[in-house]
Amino acid sequence: MLFDMENPSGFDPYEVLTALVVPRPIAWVSTISPEGVPNLAPFSFFNAICDEPPLILISISKRDDGSRKDTAENILKTGEFVVNLASEDFIEKVKTTGEDFPPDVDEFKVAGLAQAKAFKVKAPRVAGVKTWLECKLFRHEELFNYDLIFGRVVFAGAESLDYRALKPLGRLCGMFCKVVEINQEKKIPED
Ligand SMILES: Cc1cc2nc3c(=O)[nH]c(=O)nc-3n(C[C@H](O)[C@H](O)[C@H](O)COP(=O)(O)O)c2cc1C
Repeated sequence: MLFDMENPSGFDPYEVLTALVVPRPIAWVSTISPEGVPNLAPFSFFNAICDEPPLILISISKRDDGSRKDTAENILKTGEFVVNLASEDFIEKVKTTGEDFPPDVDEFKVAGLAQAKAFKVKAPRVAGVKTWLECKLFRHEELFNYDLIFGRVVFAGAESLDYRALKPLGRLCGMFCKVVEINQEKKIPED
């Protein structure tokens, strides 16, 4: 299969990209609006991009009417957010918070989730999620129809650093996936 991504015809570049760049981690981003309304939504155009300083990048598309999503709006207004890294058991709640709710709706309540206090930012985190990154807005770029959010990780919490205990949820071709290792204990011989 060959795809001219500059002149797409008969295929959707989104489907090609999300089928080939796999698996992707999911940033389950919690924020709070200046009026005090908590917000929670998942984003899989997300990754860590450098470690000195530790930076992550999230790409948030605009809505069909051109408006900014609540997550981007809150981050731009408050300069802070938390990336919760959900485990497999949160799959249904991640899906629920991926629906489009108006800005005055608290997705924690809709999904039946409790908030926990973050250590260095005002935005709440999701209680029970074992791993999270507390972030401050480092840079914002508007690119085409997207808000690119560069976040500086100022604090991280983790029950473990072993993914086998954390069971992180990922994104795979429009579906969810779990992380499974390919055990390559044996080193490849040099010659
Ligand atoms: C697993 C998953 C991954 C998603 N990834 C993205 C993404 O990378 N970028 C994006 O703009 N929307 C993504 N969405 C859709 C947003 O979560 C959705 O538009 C949400 O309503 C935004 O909420 P907000 O307006 O409260 O920010 C994803 C949804 C799901 C379920």
